[in-house]
Amino acid sequence: MVPPITCFAISFVLPILLSDGYMDFLANLTDLNPPTNLTIVDRQLGEVTISWNDGLSEIIKQHSCIRYPFEYKYFDSHTWQEDSRLLQPEYMKRFELHRGVYIRVKNVLLDEHKRTIKESNWTVMDIQPPPGDQETLAFNFSCVLYNHSTMNCTWNSGRQAANDTQYKMYYRQNDVTLQCTHYMDVGGKKGCHIDPGTVDVEENILICVNGSNSSRTIQQYYTEFDPQEYEVYNPPVNLEVLPNLTVKWDMPPAYDINIHCFAFELNVTDLDQEPVQSFNVYWMLIILAVLVMVVGLIVMLAFKSYSMLELVLKPIPCPQKKFKSLFDEYNGDFQNWMNCQVPVSKVDECLPVVIEESPQTEELGSFHCRQSMHLP
Ligand SMILES: *[C@@H]1O[C@H](CO)[C@@H](O)[C@H](O)[C@H]1NC(C)=O
Ligand SMILES: *[C@@H]1O[C@H](CO)[C@@H](O)[C@H](O)[C@H]1NC(C)=O
Ligand SMILES: *[C@@H]1O[C@H](CO)[C@@H](O)[C@H](O)[C@H]1NC(C)=O
Ligand SMILES: *[C@@H]1O[C@H](CO)[C@@H](O)[C@H](O)[C@H]1NC(C)=O
Ligand SMILES: *[C@@H]1O[C@H](CO)[C@@H](O)[C@H](O)[C@H]1NC(C)=O
Ligand SMILES: *[C@@H]1O[C@H](CO)[C@@H](O)[C@H](O)[C@H]1NC(C)=O
Ligand SMILES: *[C@@H]1O[C@H](CO)[C@@H](O)[C@H](O)[C@H]1NC(C)=O
Ligand SMILES: *[C@@H]1O[C@H](CO)[C@@H](O)[C@H](O)[C@H]1NC(C)=O
Ligand SMILES: *[C@@H]1O[C@H](CO)[C@@H](O)[C@H](O)[C@H]1NC(C)=O
Ligand SMILES: *[C@@H]1O[C@H](CO)[C@@H](O)[C@H](O)[C@H]1NC(C)=O
Ligand SMILES: *[C@@H]1O[C@H](CO)[C@@H](O)[C@H](O)[C@H]1NC(C)=O
Repeated sequence: MVPPITCFAISFVLPILLSDGYMDFLANLTDLNPPTNLTIVDRQLGEVTISWNDGLSEIIKQHSCIRYPFEYKYFDSHTWQEDSRLLQPEYMKRFELHRGVYIRVKNVLLDEHKRTIKESNWTVMDIQPPPGDQETLAFNFSCVLYNHSTMNCTWNSGRQAANDTQYKMYYRQNDVTLQCTHYMDVGGKKGCHIDPGTVDVEENILICVNGSNSSRTIQQYYTEFDPQEYEVYNPPVNLEVLPNLTVKWDMPPAYDINIHCFAFELNVTDLDQEPVQSFNVYWMLIILAVLVMVVGLIVMLAFKSYSMLELVLKPIPCPQKKFKSLFDEYNGDFQNWMNCQVPVSKVDECLPVVIEESPQTEELGSFHCRQSMHLP
């Protein structure tokens, strides 16, 4: 086995001393075989260590630098994710294992200028999701960090999980795996409360939520995140305004170590102006709207109770329009006017009317033509 440092030594020596041998090596170089025997050698929650055999000869290792590009693709994804170009045939990587993942690795030979001389095909390996129905998987998992190093995480039980399923949460940081000790129920969700002191805010945290029920396997859920992304900071303390209008405050306890990492936001509200203005425009509109409504309501009620609406809506009789000539030419003298009316030809519209008051009108009764209007 050639120690890695040889690679750099050869880089400088090769062109001068071994150029003939190097040319021979290049000329003799055949297709590279892909790596073999990809094996998971260790696994801690979703943290998987994989090793492989590159199958490269000693002569190749002496004459070139070797890199192992590593890529992965989840079962539910279409694209390979470039990850690393490794120096050693071993790698540790954290995965969301419940999604199932393909990993692939290949051999690449570089010359002294880090240019690719040759590369092999990929070798692909799959890591199947852990056993259990996907519908038993914890979902909607989320965490919040507060008061510097206290963490609450919550999740929903899988839809197909037995309702007596006991979910367990494990978390891993700095090569240590711990189990949640304080479980809780929050509004239909399951949760875990992690006491201050066990979460390192500056290290990514790896989570596994699994569960146990003898009759049904609960699929294990894996995730990894940066705790700082979910941190809710405590507000500054000891806020004061000095007579020369300098504003001062202190960091809340436990945050003072990293004071240079913080930015502050200072909100100044002008109490003289802002609230009163906004009062007038806003409240005046509301009061106006309410007033219009109230007045409208009162008017309507008044009309209703005095039957005014009915009276107003009723059409006012106007005989002048129908008996234009009676009023225009005969000055309302009905008898005169009647004598001049031509009997209506439509027989079925003419009904005999007996008028009893005076003998004159009796004679005229048979000519009286019925109109659809009552005389007053
Ligand atoms: C290249 O191949 C020739 C003939 O097979 C052999 O003599 C020579 O040693 C090889 N050179 C290297 C650098 O492998
Ligand atoms: C690389 O893959 C191609 C296409 O699958 C195949 O033809 C070739 O033989 C492979 N080469 C090696 C060295 O396995
Ligand atoms: C495959 O790799 C594993 C772990 O490195 C090793 O124990 C085993 O002997 C290897 N098998 C072969 C055939 O190389
Ligand atoms: C899951 O979370 C989303 C977003 O927070 C929410 O809208 C949804 O109701 C949650 N599902 C359940 C079953 O609680
Ligand atoms: C916040 O943490 C400090 C020490 O880390 C502790 O003294 C204090 O009681 C905690 N406050 C709350 C609201 O939990
Ligand atoms: C976290 O959980 C604890 C214990 O149930 C609770 O007292 C606390 O209010 C929660 N804090 C947040 C920010 O959800
Ligand atoms: C579980 O569900 C069954 C019916 O589906 C119900 O009878 C039982 O009370 C539930 N148990 C709990 C602990 O909620
Ligand atoms: C849950 O995961 C932890 C950590 O990997 C493991 O020790 C435990 O046996 C698992 N429990 C179940 C029920 O799968
Ligand atoms: C698993 O679920 C079944 C059916 O809901 C229940 O009868 C049984 O007690 C559960 N077992 C455990 C260990 O929780
Ligand atoms: C304001 O007053 C404080 C204390 O009296 C002093 O330390 C600070 O320098 C002053 N700032 C300015 C801008 O004058
Ligand atoms: C401070 O002012 C900004 C800009 O007006 C605003 O977006 C923010 O919500 C305010 N924050 C608070 C706590 O009032």
